[in-house]
Amino acid sequence: MIEIVFSTNNMNKFKEVKLQLPKDIRLISLKDIGCYEKIPETETTIRSNAIQKAKYIKEKYGFNCFSDDSGLEIDNLNGEPGVNSAVYAGLEKNSKKNINKVLKKLNGKKNRDASFKTIIALYLDDNLLTFEGICKGQITKKPIGIKGFGYDPIFIPKGFNKTFAEMTLKEKNMISHRGLAVNKLICFFNKLRPC
Ligand code: IMP
Repeated sequence: MIEIVFSTNNMNKFKEVKLQLPKDIRLISLKDIGCYEKIPETETTIRSNAIQKAKYIKEKYGFNCFSDDSGLEIDNLNGEPGVNSAVYAGLEKNSKKNINKVLKKLNGKKNRDASFKTIIALYLDDNLLTFEGICKGQITKKPIGIKGFGYDPIFIPKGFNKTFAEMTLKEKNMISHRGLAVNKLICFFNKLRPC
């Protein structure tokens, strides 16, 4: 049995990752280790934010852990909102307002290509490893679907005709940026133990 802390304040992410992990990898939440504070994410790239969030828990609480930092990169907006995805329309981190800002900026634009990107940073003893997942797709003209979180209602992954917000968690995990990065993490753990 592998036990690992997931350094995230985002319970949507926690739920998605928990569903995807095999039974013998037990996910430990920040509350489980007595951490009730907001984990800092003040860096300027998705990768460095991911490392910052995992490092914080490893150094302050001493647990092996991993973190996830993700963002939506829209081609026609020069990669915005990117690392600022959570706070795109303001520090209150309001998903509806973030979505409206994206839709307004893309209003009338033909090219609606975008990708979701996740970097998982894993601190295992003294080692730091990162795993990347990218999911390409298109931004819709209006929000569709009520599942998921964040920008899910306006993102249709390539090869599909529905948004992430119309998919079950299982469906989303199979193709999403986070799902792909978590698969790489699982493969890494599989190599560490006898099958
Ligand atoms: P962070 O990785 O917690 O900084 O996430 C940044 C923001 O990106 C979140 O607040 C969401 O708005 C958005 N985001 C991250 N992952 C997803 C996803 O899987 N679906 C939709 N939005 C996401």
